[in-house]
Parts: sequence; C-alpha cells; structure tokens
Amino acid sequence: MEIYNKKQEIIAAVAALKQKGMSLGMVPTMGALHDGHLQLVKRALAENQKVVVSIFVNPTQFDNNDDLEKYPRTLNTDVALLKTLSDEDILVYAPTVDDIYEGNTVSESFDFDGLEHEMEGKFRHGHFDGVGTIVKRFFEIVMPDRAYFGEKDFQQLAIIKKMVEKHNLPVKIVGCDIYREPSGLAMSSRNTRLKPAYKEAAPFIYKTLKSARAHFGTKSATLVMQWVTKAFAEHNLLKLEYFIIADAETLKPVQRKSDKKKYRAFIAVYADDIRLIDNIALN
Ligand code: PAJ
Repeated sequence: MEIYNKKQEIIAAVAALKQKGMSLGMVPTMGALHDGHLQLVKRALAENQKVVVSIFVNPTQFDNNDDLEKYPRTLNTDVALLKTLSDEDILVYAPTVDDIYEGNTVSESFDFDGLEHEMEGKFRHGHFDGVGTIVKRFFEIVMPDRAYFGEKDFQQLAIIKKMVEKHNLPVKIVGCDIYREPSGLAMSSRNTRLKPAYKEAAPFIYKTLKSARAHFGTKSATLVMQWVTKAFAEHNLLKLEYFIIADAETLKPVQRKSDKKKYRAFIAVYADDIRLIDNIALN
C-alpha cells in the first residue's frame, strides 16, 4: 500500500490510474480509524477499482484548540487497518498541514444556502467553512468519481452535497449509514478518549434518540424536545448541548409536522470534556 504525503505525488498516482481508465473512490477522514470509517472504505472498494483514503486532521475545522491538539493521531495503526481491507487497491493520502495549505490556513467562505447556520454551525464557529475548504481541495487534487461520507455527520454530508451542486464539482457524493458499537453508541474517533464511566454512560444518547423516535409518532416535536431535555437534566454524567428535530432536507427545526416531509433528530452531548454527536431518522 502506497502512502503519499505530497500533493504532487498523489496527483501523479491518480493521473496514472485515470489513464488506465480506472474508476476512483475517495474516503476523506481525519484518521484514528474505526469500524465506521472502514464501512465507508469497504463500500468505496466495492463500487470503484481504486480508493484514496485521506488521513488528515484538518486544523481549519476546529474552533477549539484543545480538541485539535488532543485529536488522536494513529497513522501506523490506521494503515494496518486499511491493509486488512485491501493492500493493493487503497492509496493513502496523508498530507502535512503545510503541503495542503501552503502556509495559509484560512478557510474559504461558503454559502451552503443556510444549512451551515443550523446545529453544528451554531455551536462550532467556522467549522463548516473549514470542512468545505478541505474537502473541496481534496476533490480538486484527487478528482474522485465518487466520495463517501457517513450519516454520522449528517449535516456535514448535506453541506458537501450542497457544495458539489453549487460549484458543479464532477463527483458523486454517497451517504453511508451510521455504524454503531454493540451498545448502540455511534462509533467515533473521540470515543477512545472517553473515561470508563463515560463510555458506559454514552449509549444513553442513542437510547434516548430511539425513545424520541417512538414518541415522535404520537407527540409534537416540542413535547419530544422537552422530554429529551428533562431526561438529560436528570442524567448525572452526560450534558446535553442541543437536541433538535429538524426537516431532513433544510435542517431547519420543525414547526408543524407534515406527512410529506422527512424528519430527523440531532443531538450533541458532552461526556466530560468530550463532545459526542448522533442523529436518527424519525419517519
Ligand atoms: P472523520 O470524523 O474522521 O470522519 C470521516 C468520515 O467517516 C465522515 O464522512 C464521517 O461521517 C464518517 N464516519 C465517522 N464515524 C462514523 C460512523 N460511526 N458511521 C458511519 N460513518 C462514520 O468527518 C470528518 O472526519 C472530517 O470532517 C472530514 C470530512 C474528513 C474533513 O476533514
């Protein structure tokens, strides 16, 4: 398996594959790979002849320096995990900050038709400009036919689809289901930082989402939101940052339910100083 650290090298490698007429998938990641990431890579391998997995902790999407510094970096283990899927058909692109940003770590400003102002956009300032900047750059460098993103970060997936549509980028965005631990906790690179008591408590997040889905059948969104807020107020370890029931397309909070629309519940929770997010389809 080849590991490329420099833009020019991956550009040359990809050009050689394209010349042979090979189809190319891409899975952008920040590393510390887990089974959730691997599901995306497996799907990409099934649908493309070659797959570029990028591993890059992108500084411009962090609004919290402590989170950026503590973000796990485990390149050797990541490469070993990817090798278990395919030694031949995966190219790893693991650039340095300087190689990709060329000394200018300022995000481009994006207009995602308002998607960027909801939920994560409210709580993580500049986050989606950082995500848009790096993903657009990756697409320009790698030029994949298809790129794979998880519904774990549903708002990110929506924003990237919007970016591709607005900028007419020649790539198909494929959304993939959330992959969970047996406890129901959505897999996340941040889970490795949870202290045991918090790791044990964290499955409460998905349990609450499932109950919210059940309540949503009969109750108003406001009542469900109140119920969830109360459930977390009574929890001694987990702190709710937000719980929102939103239109799955516009991501705007639901006002009045309509049978014609798809809704999703979105949640962000602090387990100690670790921020966890999750979401669920409600109908
Ligand atoms: P990262 O958090 O490493 O996630 C990489 C991809 O894996 C994202 O598309 C994310 O939604 C997906 N993913 C993570 N956990 C998952 C799970 N439990 N089930 C399914 N998919 C999961 O998201 C990022 O990195 C960055 O923002 C990035 C897009 C790479 C830009 O820097």
